[in-house]
Amino acid sequence: MPTDLSASLAALPGFPQLHGPRVRLRGPRPQDADAVFALFSDPEVMRYWSRAPMTQRDEACALISEMEEAFAQRDKINWVSVDRRDMVIGTCTLFRFDARHRHAEIGYSLRSDQWGKGLAREAVGAALDWAFRSLHLHRIEADIDPLNDNSRRILQRLGFVSEGVLRERFFVGDEAKDSEMFGLLADDWQRRERS
Ligand SMILES: CC(C)(COP(=O)(O)OP(=O)(O)OC[C@H]1O[C@@H](n2cnc3c(N)ncnc32)[C@H](O)[C@@H]1OP(=O)(O)O)[C@@H](O)C(=O)NCCC(=O)NCCS
Repeated sequence: MPTDLSASLAALPGFPQLHGPRVRLRGPRPQDADAVFALFSDPEVMRYWSRAPMTQRDEACALISEMEEAFAQRDKINWVSVDRRDMVIGTCTLFRFDARHRHAEIGYSLRSDQWGKGLAREAVGAALDWAFRSLHLHRIEADIDPLNDNSRRILQRLGFVSEGVLRERFFVGDEAKDSEMFGLLADDWQRRERS
């Protein structure tokens, strides 16, 4: 089995296109700026995010450019999730690739008016499945604010295991925040897929 993560990332011909029954994941486009701004200016979505809500549409344009550049460098895979009308409703990002140890981190967001329908689980599940199969990752990590119950629920439903709380690991503004680490192994995912 090929396990060279850097080679697998370099060999990607373009943004991987993934889908669940109701959600598609694709690369971001400049035309997504209004929807990306709507997502990241929502205080509900940004409550546990490491940056303040956006206030200017230009910030969304800049973020889309950063996402495109990060993918070009194969530094991050920064999908947007879209509904049937191709409207952006969320994001899902694989980042902090570690080729030596074959792990990466995952992060995600969903428009708050779409919460509670299983759409984020569908999107994150598609990204995890692709990452284990196509990049042959051994482990995927997620790092959340321990107060972020919605995020904990989606991780646990996808089979992640809580591996402990790191105290005051991040500053959000002037406030030092704890960080709860979750891990999912390729074996955990395969077992879950078989059951
Ligand atoms: C974290 C976040 C993506 C979770 O979104 P979500 O919609 O709650 O998550 P899911 O897609 O897993 O939906 C789960 C809910 O949908 C319900 N649901 C309804 N229909 C469903 C279906 N067809 N299939 C699955 N679940 C369904 C589930 O019962 C569950 O509800 P419950 O949690 O009350 O039991 C969202 O809260 C968010 O964007 N938060 C802000 C950003 C953030 O904090 N990201 C994490 C930092 S990395």
